[in-house]
Amino acid sequence: MRLETMRYTERFGSVRINDVQKVIELDSGRKEDTPAGEIIGVKKIDDEVVRGIEHRMAIVIPTRDEKLKLFEGVISGVPHDCLIIVVSNSQINRVDRFKMEADTLAQFCHFSQREALILHQKDPVIAEALGQAGYSDLLGEDELIRDGKSEGMMVGWLMAKLAKKDYVGFIDADNYFPGAVWEYAKCYAAGFSMATSPYAMVRILWRYKPKISGGIYFKKWGRASEVTNKCLNSLISSKTGFESEIIKTGNAGEHAMSMRLAEILPYASDFAVEPYELVSIFEGFGGVLPTANQTAAKHGIEIFQIETRNPHLHEEKGVQHVREVLLPGLSAIYYSPICEPETKKMIKDELVVQRVLKTNEKPPKPHLCLLPKKVAIKKFIELMGEHLAAYSATGEAE
Ligand code: GDD
Ligand code: MG
Repeated sequence: MRLETMRYTERFGSVRINDVQKVIELDSGRKEDTPAGEIIGVKKIDDEVVRGIEHRMAIVIPTRDEKLKLFEGVISGVPHDCLIIVVSNSQINRVDRFKMEADTLAQFCHFSQREALILHQKDPVIAEALGQAGYSDLLGEDELIRDGKSEGMMVGWLMAKLAKKDYVGFIDADNYFPGAVWEYAKCYAAGFSMATSPYAMVRILWRYKPKISGGIYFKKWGRASEVTNKCLNSLISSKTGFESEIIKTGNAGEHAMSMRLAEILPYASDFAVEPYELVSIFEGFGGVLPTANQTAAKHGIEIFQIETRNPHLHEEKGVQHVREVLLPGLSAIYYSPICEPETKKMIKDELVVQRVLKTNEKPPKPHLCLLPKKVAIKKFIELMGEHLAAYSATGEAE
């Protein structure tokens, strides 16, 4: 594929945040047919390079009671070389939607001759392994994994680690366009191919997020994203003293991390997860608080923001749902020890304007899953190692 080259990078301590790079061409043709010499401003990433990274990458698909047709479309869009890991919190009583997802995935794997993993978020075996490894933050009072997309994502990347992958990407299950899913995975790989640090993250910006009301309107910004980006930029600006607009992917549900980075970040519950990834990177590596990890700081944390060609069309879940996405993300910024009074005020004002809070209310404290310790990850891998085959979609994983 061809992307715009990196033009501008903003630095915040040892964090390097690259400005948005647009996809120019989805498929850049055969290597041997490419004329020598590069076009200024254009980065060509060869197919073999992309595929090489895809082979080392798992795509985690968190899902909860999505339409089966959408789920089926999403799995069909994941490039063949990536390992699909479905983490489902779908209902199993009354109608067993989880079984329907597992059957769909197994049939897809059979026809496409590939392997995939699928697990239920309320699986007691995984919860027990997490508890024993010291990840009780992820568990609820019933000692099972808590509800939430973020909790599903965490289990997903731990399974990716178990499957010995070096990269993990996340793609929602309610996407209407398999082509968009395909492009996200390609962009993840393209981003990692440009990284100079092993601690890298790729966040997707959609070119358009169409809305249907009367006719179709190709809207660029989602309602929650605009506000979250503004507050994250305010957080950076207050620390550097220079007004910044660098963050354009604060809520990016579609994003990927090198395993080295995923392993050293704390996580916030539910929809706070994406903004909090950035907040925790700024806290740990922005140079304001003590450094969270010396090795990572030495290499630097590299963040790519890539704008895709496919529009993003997903399930419209209503205004109340937008509020449910917005509040935890802004709360995670609000309670950060690096969040100063101006940004706090901005957050409170926005939440009042969006009718999420009343004037005299404060945002609720976010639930954080503390930094996973190396030993905990090792222990989880040890405990789960013998169970891996049980999560194979076809029953054939090693
Ligand atoms: N495993 C699991 N567990 N998955 C879940 C859960 C859960 O408890 N809750 C939701 N999901 C799945 C959904 O089925 C979907 O595939 C994905 O997580 C995202 O949930 P949506 O409900 O579709 O969220 P959204 O579309 O409003 O928000 C998305 O975009 C935002 C940015 O605009 C999410 O990706 C957000 O995280 C993101 O901030
Ligand atoms: Mg959605």
